[in-house]
Amino acid sequence: MAGTKILHMLDPRANVSPFDVNMAVDAGYEVVVPYPGVAAGDVAGLVQDAVFSRPPGRYNDTGIFIGGHDVNLAADMLEQAGGAMVPPFEAAVLADPNGAFTTSAALVALVAKHLRARSGAGLEDRDVRILGGGPVGLCAAVLVARQGGRPTLVRLTDMTPARAEPVERFARRYGVELPWTTGRDDAGKRAALESVEVVVCCARAGVQVLSADLMAQCAKLEIAADVNAVPPAGVEGLPVTGDGVDLPSGALGIGALAIGGIKYQVQRGLLKRMMSADHAVVLDFPDAFDLAGETVSD
Ligand SMILES: NC(=O)c1ccc[n+]([C@@H]2O[C@H](COP(=O)([O-])OP(=O)(O)OC[C@H]3O[C@@H](n4cnc5c(N)ncnc54)[C@H](OP(=O)(O)O)[C@@H]3O)[C@@H](O)[C@H]2O)c1
Repeated sequence: MAGTKILHMLDPRANVSPFDVNMAVDAGYEVVVPYPGVAAGDVAGLVQDAVFSRPPGRYNDTGIFIGGHDVNLAADMLEQAGGAMVPPFEAAVLADPNGAFTTSAALVALVAKHLRARSGAGLEDRDVRILGGGPVGLCAAVLVARQGGRPTLVRLTDMTPARAEPVERFARRYGVELPWTTGRDDAGKRAALESVEVVVCCARAGVQVLSADLMAQCAKLEIAADVNAVPPAGVEGLPVTGDGVDLPSGALGIGALAIGGIKYQVQRGLLKRMMSADHAVVLDFPDAFDLAGETVSD
C-alpha cells in the first residue's frame, strides 16, 4: 500500500542486527527488510530499485538503513546511497554500523555535559584518551576532535600499518587528526594516561581495560566513561548505571547503561526523523551527535 513505511536494511555482514530491526519497528517502520552480504557496489542499484517503485516525493515512506562493523565501509555506503537518489524519487538514509554512530554520539555528549557541570567548560582543549580503536572508539575520537578536544586513541591490541590506515582514512573523511599510541599493558596505559583529564573506554564487550589502581594514579582525571555493558565493566568499580557518579579516584564515572539510554533515544529519534523530515535526510554520526546534545540536558 502506498504510504506504508518500509525500511530496507543493508549490511555487509552475514546478519542484520536484531537490535536495529527491533529499533526500526518500535520507531514506527511497518515493513523491515534485511539485506545481508551487501557490497558497497550494490548500494546504488538497491537504493534506486527502492525509490523508483514508489510515488515521487514520498521520501518519508521509504528508508535505507546501513549497518555493518567497518565504519569506513558504512561511510562509503552512506555516501553512495545519498548519491543514488534521482529527485523527486528519493528515500531517507541512516547509517549506524554496530551502533557505533549513535553510541559514540551519546558517549561524547554525556562526557561534555558532565565536564560542563563539573568545571564550566566542555571538551574544548581537553586531552582525551580513548581506550580501544574499534567502531565506537574511532567515532568518539572524531566527535571529540570536532568539539575542539585533543583525542588520542590508545590501541589495546597489536597495531600494524594495515590497522593504522583505516584510522587515517576515517580521520581524513571528517577533517580531523586522530593520533594513536599503544596501551597493551598497564605500563603502556600508565604512560598514555599521564596528565589526562578524560578517559573513555571503548573496548570489546566483557573486557576490563582500566583498573582502579591505574585510575588512582591519574591525578588530573575528571571523567572516566565506559561503553561496555557486559561484565566485568571496562573501568573497574564503575557501575553500569552511573551517570556522573563519584569514583574512588576523585573522577566522575559514566557507565554503559547511562550512555545506552541516550543512544536508544538518539537512534529512535533519527529513525523517526527519517519518517517525518521535510526533505530526504541522509543521516551521519555528526547528525547523531547533534541530537544527542539536545537529548542530554545540562
Ligand atoms: N552502551 C551502549 O549503548 C553500546 C552500544 C554499542 C556498543 N557498545 C559497546 O561498545 C564497545 C565497543 O564497541 P565496538 O563495536 O567499537 O567494539 P569491538 O569492535 O568489539 O572492539 C573494540 C576494541 O576492543 C579492543 N579489543 C579487542 N579485543 C580485545 C582484548 N582481548 N582485550 C582488550 N581489548 C580488546 C580493540 O581495540 P584496539 O583496536 O585498540 O586494539 C577493539 O578494536 C563494546 O564493548 C560494545 O559492546 C555499547
